[in-house]
Amino acid sequence: MTATGDAIGLDIELLRHETPGCLRVNHLNNAGCALPPTKVTDTVVDHLHLEAMIGGYEAHADVLHRLERVYESVAQLLGARPDQIALLESATAAWDRAFTAIHHTRPFTAGDRILVSSSEYASNVLPIMQIVKTCGVRLEFIPDDEHGCVDVAAFEKLLDTDVAAVAVNQCPSQNGLINEVAAIGAALRANHSDAWYLVDACQSVGQLPISAGAIGADFISATGRKFLRGPRGTGFLFTSDRALIELEPFPLDLHSATWHESGFEVATGARKFEFWEKSYAGLLGLGAAIDYALACGIEAISARISLLAQQARAGLSAVPGVTVHDRGLHLSGIVTFTHDRIDARQLVAQIRQAGINVSLSTPEYARVDFESHHIAALVRVSPHAYNTPAEIDQLLKAVTHA
Ligand SMILES: Cc1ncc(COP(=O)(O)O)c(C=O)c1O
Repeated sequence: MTATGDAIGLDIELLRHETPGCLRVNHLNNAGCALPPTKVTDTVVDHLHLEAMIGGYEAHADVLHRLERVYESVAQLLGARPDQIALLESATAAWDRAFTAIHHTRPFTAGDRILVSSSEYASNVLPIMQIVKTCGVRLEFIPDDEHGCVDVAAFEKLLDTDVAAVAVNQCPSQNGLINEVAAIGAALRANHSDAWYLVDACQSVGQLPISAGAIGADFISATGRKFLRGPRGTGFLFTSDRALIELEPFPLDLHSATWHESGFEVATGARKFEFWEKSYAGLLGLGAAIDYALACGIEAISARISLLAQQARAGLSAVPGVTVHDRGLHLSGIVTFTHDRIDARQLVAQIRQAGINVSLSTPEYARVDFESHHIAALVRVSPHAYNTPAEIDQLLKAVTHA
């Protein structure tokens, strides 16, 4: 990526040129699913064509070396080793593979406690609620600090030998905050906790630099389609060495284990968390998306997203009737607001009519967060580096005239 014209070092014109969707729409829904760069779409389509021309298994065999590169790309993105990476179809699939492996290897029992951030995504909380019902485990939401993030000091006080797992999202789907996941990891280590630590980086990969070593989690789950700008139906899981040594995924298949005459042998490395069947077109696209982001520079992308989000927050706060609901000491690229005259659902529809994609956040996504702040629904705006200040102005105009 050449550095021309922009203080952050990104060539925005080039970024937009390489993102054909920019010509069609003002896409401010990157926390939902970003517009992919041409390179990503071409990679996916090319592989689908190859499958159609020579056969899916034969096409797979042809790209084995490129698929290995995808593990390397994810590893580079997270500062990890390729053998610590499993490729899956979504962030939820990745999180679930981790959670079910923990429960299968050493089943949760009555008396165990699982600590979860108050803004945790519903798909991470629902399996825990199931375990609460079947095993009598206690689900506890970690208190927020004065900024609205996970209160690390309060978290430390909750830690005891009965804490079996801790689940925290780095950037919640709504509310704009960034949780101090590295400080939480450090607190677990300082307290010699055996709890399994699951970090949901679904909204942070691609928009923030992430170091698996600094976070110190057992698992980091993420998706391809959001700030990484990869294809839908892709995701990945980082696994710690402890998880690789101690945990057996459940259920196994013939990719994660081998069926011998006398039993079975579980695969080595994080690939034991995968299943056999995959969208290889999607995964090659994921690799292309990560390589594109790394070539742009995650720091530069992060700085640009932050600038645009700040512009949106400041502009929206100045619109009569609008309340921006974001909180936290450090803010992410997710901006949320309500209007005192217009229902959030209707406002999203009106903004879309103006050719701008934003999304609706509702309590089903993170019930504790919404209910504790008495919010019924939010409009969510999430710019990416390819967006422009003019596009944010267009949004502000649409909200002002709604
Ligand atoms: C914070 C967070 N975690 C997890 C998920 C689930 O991701 P996926 O749909 O890829 O399973 C989402 C999706 O929006 C999310 O925002």
